Amino acid sequence: MVIFGAGGDLAKRLLAPALCNLAEGGGLDEAFKVLGVDHKAKGDAAFADGLGAFLRGPGADGEGTSRPTKAAAAAWKWLEERLFYQAGEFEDPATYSALAARLEALGGEGGGNVLFYLAVAPRFFGDIVERLAAAGLTREANARFRRVVIEKPFGTDLASAKALNARVGKCLDEHQVYRIDHFLGKETVRNILVTRFANGVFEPVWNRLHIDHVQITASETVGVEGRGGYYDRAGALRDMVPSHLFQLLAMTAMETPNTFEADAVRAEKARVVEAVQLQSLSEASANSVRGQYRVGRVNGREVADYRHEPRVAARSHTETYVALKFTIDNWRWAGVPFYLRTGKALAARDTSVAIRFRRAPGHLFGPVAGPPAANTLILQIQPHEGVSLAFEAKRPGPDVELAPVRMDFRYADYFAAAPANGYETLLYDAMIGDPTQFAGAREIEFAWRAVEPFLQVGQDAGKVHGYAAGSAGPRQADDLMARDGRAWRPIG
Ligand code: BG6
Repeated sequence: MVIFGAGGDLAKRLLAPALCNLAEGGGLDEAFKVLGVDHKAKGDAAFADGLGAFLRGPGADGEGTSRPTKAAAAAWKWLEERLFYQAGEFEDPATYSALAARLEALGGEGGGNVLFYLAVAPRFFGDIVERLAAAGLTREANARFRRVVIEKPFGTDLASAKALNARVGKCLDEHQVYRIDHFLGKETVRNILVTRFANGVFEPVWNRLHIDHVQITASETVGVEGRGGYYDRAGALRDMVPSHLFQLLAMTAMETPNTFEADAVRAEKARVVEAVQLQSLSEASANSVRGQYRVGRVNGREVADYRHEPRVAARSHTETYVALKFTIDNWRWAGVPFYLRTGKALAARDTSVAIRFRRAPGHLFGPVAGPPAANTLILQIQPHEGVSLAFEAKRPGPDVELAPVRMDFRYADYFAAAPANGYETLLYDAMIGDPTQFAGAREIEFAWRAVEPFLQVGQDAGKVHGYAAGSAGPRQADDLMARDGRAWRPIG
């Protein structure tokens, strides 16, 4: 595995722990090796020491960082002996000839099977792929594979995503490209398809006849955490929506694939994203709310105004919160709105898909008990992974009074989960050549196409509403729902 950007945040916060966890579970071959590539000059030992110190140290813990458990100490030792480093600039052809020689030395004649992982700033994606190809490093011969994992964000709008797909497509066959979206490594995201398709009870009601609307939430308590330079240019919409939130939308809304093979699953996902209705600028303006956090407290911790975060412009109008309304124009979903929201420095961490069913008619309970509340099926992705169903029960007592109750399934109650940050399964899949849980080129382009009008509307600086850190976001997001006679689920 060759990691471009081996000195970066992603490599140490997520890839190294994931590799430890994989090693711990016996998921890596004895002959496995990691070759880190980055611009800083250092040797193999210094690279390994740096990673080891980070994994053991206090570091910047929290969301987005994952440390191997104590039990993984043996796995780290195993991995440490397999870490190598190659200094070089990503844009220098000499880096690639040195890399070729190094691969021969480490992987034997021809360099062996190689997974190139681009854990680098997005501006390098196209360039690195072209240089790898020019150096002959992406050629698959004698049954050896050459695959490239490309991190997000894949483009910054439709045009750039298309251009990147085209550049990559000139150098690699599609079967060699693994566009990673780490949400697809999360157990509960994978469980969406199992919940829907392995149970007789859900799929028959999974349509517009029974579902009123869908709410997809990715609420975070963290702020920009030192990523101001990147984030202030990206914003919540680009950072989360076409990738993570659209993956959740696709898994929730896709038709049943004929098989669980990669091609079948990816084709259905792309098809439903293609069916997301394209909105005019005035529709996009009416169907979106953008917010930016102001000073406040999150979990008892003081949070500064977003505009005072390091490397954020003092007059930034980048959104740290966005709420959007989409519709999908097909037989299953016509008339069922999908409301998406995501934000930073909010009251609670909550990543979930809530399916709100149509209300039962209220005439039976009438004036005494009032109309029954609508049932909601919640697919909870984070932090307490599980599935729950909110429904009505009779409150004990002489009168027929309704009370909302919940049936809860929590993963932790049933399964002893191995420590994982989601990258384990994706790395493993990329190594065994299973692209099912990776985004296809078309799917990504359709997502950008659907988001494009919102990007344009987002350039209007006047439309960013302040919200207090530690709140549930700007109140205008509530108005977006109230207008349709609906309300967001409380977060957390
Ligand atoms: C990343 C975004 O892709 O996903 C971050 O760039 C975000 O801004 C993160 O915090 C959320 O992922 P998770 O797994 O912590 O929910």
